[in-house]
Amino acid sequence: MAESFAADWLDLREPFDAAARAPALAEALMGHLDAKARPRFLDLGAGTGSLTRWLGHFVGRAHAWVLADADPALMARAFEATAEGAEALGWRATTTKRMGPQKAALLVHAPTGAWRIEGLLTDLAAAPEGLPLGAVDAVTCSALCDLVSAPWLERLAAALARHRLPFYAALNVTGRERFSPPHPGDAWVARGFARDQRRAKGFGGPALGPAAPAAIARAFAAAGYRVLRAPSDWVIPPSAGAMARALALGHAEAALRHERREAWRIEAWAEARAAAAEAGRLSIRVPHQDLLCLPPS
Ligand SMILES: C[S@@+](CC[C@H](N)C(=O)[O-])C[C@H]1O[C@@H](n2cnc3c(N)ncnc32)[C@H](O)[C@@H]1O
Repeated sequence: MAESFAADWLDLREPFDAAARAPALAEALMGHLDAKARPRFLDLGAGTGSLTRWLGHFVGRAHAWVLADADPALMARAFEATAEGAEALGWRATTTKRMGPQKAALLVHAPTGAWRIEGLLTDLAAAPEGLPLGAVDAVTCSALCDLVSAPWLERLAAALARHRLPFYAALNVTGRERFSPPHPGDAWVARGFARDQRRAKGFGGPALGPAAPAAIARAFAAAGYRVLRAPSDWVIPPSAGAMARALALGHAEAALRHERREAWRIEAWAEARAAAAEAGRLSIRVPHQDLLCLPPS
């Protein structure tokens, strides 16, 4: 079963995701797609569409997206948030009619050309089965690969290699978060959280967690790809109390699944961290890495 995520959490993290992703890799992807008059992207685990709203600005011409996700509520929010985002920029957003096999799509009328966005409700557990790999020019994802298993990733790499498609994977966690100031419960929470990162999340095996960047690099290099990497850490300053609080509570909840005997320590940690966040005294750094895998020419 697909791991579920709250739309509010994805909305809250969107500006931090946008600030963290490495523009150099987005530009390198666009360089690779230079010859495509109207590039088509497939975003895996698209959630509320945060990657589209960021990466779309790098394309600079008309282009198309297929947003793939298992959660219909997140998909609905993706369309709503992208239309709202367009209107906030002074761009029109319209919806096409469903025509036979062609799905209804959102059209964002950007000054450099329209962004056509359609949804694909699917459980990615069986991917690449069911993905329209023959009808896109690049496959992307953001904050997805820590959930998947090594065999899943190897299958995806082999399928993308057959279609000579680039793979762009943003925001892969690489290691332990740093909460400041330190707290005596940090190590307990980190231990439980690290165990939770490896919990199977519906992709046919233990989740990669912070092993994702190395696993992506290995799988795509083995398929002959050139792999580029760039740091994309989340930096949560004390002024971002709501984000710091949500992140700390999320860590505690994950840690509690595995450290039942130390529940009292973790609960005390969560209370102290929430109070510090609300008082503007908690900062957090979450190490991430973006990867861009380019097929052999
Ligand atoms: C951490 S969220 C990232 C969302 C979005 N890419 C972003 O950066 O905000 C992971 C996303 O993967 C989706 N997901 C998880 N397991 C899935 C599965 N088996 N099939 C399809 N989508 C899945 C979730 O619904 C969620 O939208």
